[in-house]
Amino acid sequence: MTTAPPTGDGGAPAWLPDEATLSRMAGELFRALPGQDPFEPSPAVASGPPGVVGPPMSPPNGPPPTSAPASTAQFASGFAVPTPDLPIQPVTPDVPDLSGLTGGGVASPTAGTTPGGPSVPSGGATPGSLPSGAPAVPSVSPAAPSVSQFYFLTDIPGYTPAAPATPGYGEVALPPTDLSTDDRFAEPPWYSAGPQSVSPGSIPQLPLDPHPPFDVHAIRRDFPILSERVNGKPLIWLDNAATTQKPQAVIDRLVEFYSRENSNIHRAAHELAARATDAYEGARRTIADFLGAGSPEEIIFVRGTTEGINLIANTWGHKNIREGDEIVISHLEHHANIVPWQMLAERTGAVIKVIPVDDDGVLLIDEYTKLLSDRTKLVSVTHVSNALGTVTPIKQIIDIGHRAGATVLIDGAQSVPHIQVNVTELDADFLVFSGHKIFGPTGIGAVYGKREILEDMPPWEGGGNMIVDVTLERATFHEPPGRFEAGTGNIADAAGLAAALDYVQRIGLPNIAAYEHGLVEYAMAGLRQVPGLTLIGTAPEKASVVSFVLDGYEPLEVGTALNQEGIAVRAGHHCAQPILRRFGLEATVRPSFAFYNTCQEVDALVAAVHRLAARRGH
Ligand code: ALA
Repeated sequence: MTTAPPTGDGGAPAWLPDEATLSRMAGELFRALPGQDPFEPSPAVASGPPGVVGPPMSPPNGPPPTSAPASTAQFASGFAVPTPDLPIQPVTPDVPDLSGLTGGGVASPTAGTTPGGPSVPSGGATPGSLPSGAPAVPSVSPAAPSVSQFYFLTDIPGYTPAAPATPGYGEVALPPTDLSTDDRFAEPPWYSAGPQSVSPGSIPQLPLDPHPPFDVHAIRRDFPILSERVNGKPLIWLDNAATTQKPQAVIDRLVEFYSRENSNIHRAAHELAARATDAYEGARRTIADFLGAGSPEEIIFVRGTTEGINLIANTWGHKNIREGDEIVISHLEHHANIVPWQMLAERTGAVIKVIPVDDDGVLLIDEYTKLLSDRTKLVSVTHVSNALGTVTPIKQIIDIGHRAGATVLIDGAQSVPHIQVNVTELDADFLVFSGHKIFGPTGIGAVYGKREILEDMPPWEGGGNMIVDVTLERATFHEPPGRFEAGTGNIADAAGLAAALDYVQRIGLPNIAAYEHGLVEYAMAGLRQVPGLTLIGTAPEKASVVSFVLDGYEPLEVGTALNQEGIAVRAGHHCAQPILRRFGLEATVRPSFAFYNTCQEVDALVAAVHRLAARRGH
């Protein structure tokens, strides 16, 4: 008589993976089959030893997180692992930090200040008045990392790089999609666009990008949604400034939290409360490390950038801003960094002043300096414009603001996913970002604030979790950050955000910045060839975002047409109406990039826009 294997609750043998695991494994297997992934590298291009471009980064039983939970709850979090014979080494890439870049080519000031009201630049340019020539783009010339990780094929002993598929851009591994089978490249009306025209599969001459091959294909396999099809075409996700897609490691972390750790935090003696508390506080530590903060106590969980800025306006602003005080923002700001200050100014009688930009979308630093006085209490400026992609000279902005005695807040929503940011090196007083823009879940983000500033801030929302003691007459509050986190927080998504930051750290932001810099340059070069297309925002330093308008089309029409081709971009005002109006516009088309995008996807975008232009006789 044989003994049956032990069974689980549902009667299935306990040694069998559960249904959800089986389903996920089947999905992964399916995606791994040749022909299922349109961006699957062919052996000829993704060369290297067998198994090198191997497993997804997110096997369910990966090694423990680098920032482990404090006490219990040492669960595997779906972290990336190398192939078994390729140990992961710490990444110490020797790539320049882009965070302190100064905006070059500042044009002569065009701003005027209206006393007692917002200062606005005069002479808003129209797209037709934009300089036609491309600004000189300082090349990012990172040295090759001396120690690298799994993704960088050149660091694998015995690896011989394949010959660059495309002269001039050869260091970025291009997906070997057979363009002849992709009807987005079928009819090239843009062959005759002029001597500099691009053709399917050909790449305009660009400066050599010296960073080592970046295995975008391995990365793409970590993002299940990138295998989706839209309107019968493989999805091309170019709406990363609106939100980013999630790697399997983040999805797994959420499943794991709800499967094994779910509890409220800080409130009970039981095991699951300890696990959930560890997950939440571990995530706070991960964020602090990620931003280079002095301690986790300087990190407040919020829903995202918008809530973070509102928190600062309603706590720090409530305490520190009085009638006649001045708040300096820039013309590049997202509505989230405008409206809370308008509301505060309305309540207090404070005045908002605006740093103007030139016709490339570069902040005019001389004008900024002129706006400052001893009445300036706050400077609140974006690090990267969500509408134009301009990278602002944030270190310079902070230093100048501090010299005037102002507190400086950085809107990092569009920068932290793309540029290494260290709040201690920058000496930022506040920095705010959203988890969903950095491959984490929606509904979670963080405020960084210097400890001494947070300690001086009153609470904003009152309730449970933020108090030490409550009587019917009065309450006493926790020290920061607990004081600012009333009610039950977004515990699972905080854990998911930590998984996302760990994922990003494994690739390395300097590597991401260098790769995306190449993508943006490539996209700008391609789009410039399209007749009737005007790029909006041509700052020398840009990250992730390209904005344009096309003669004969409303931006929404372009967005809709691109969607027909499976290409997702944002078309509209991007919650940044003032900066679009500075260029005489109400809307633009905005492709925005992440490290999982490829040159081939850019080619598809450019080809589709060429076809649209041709339809209007351009
Ligand atoms: N802030 C997001 C964007 O720029 C929503 O699209």
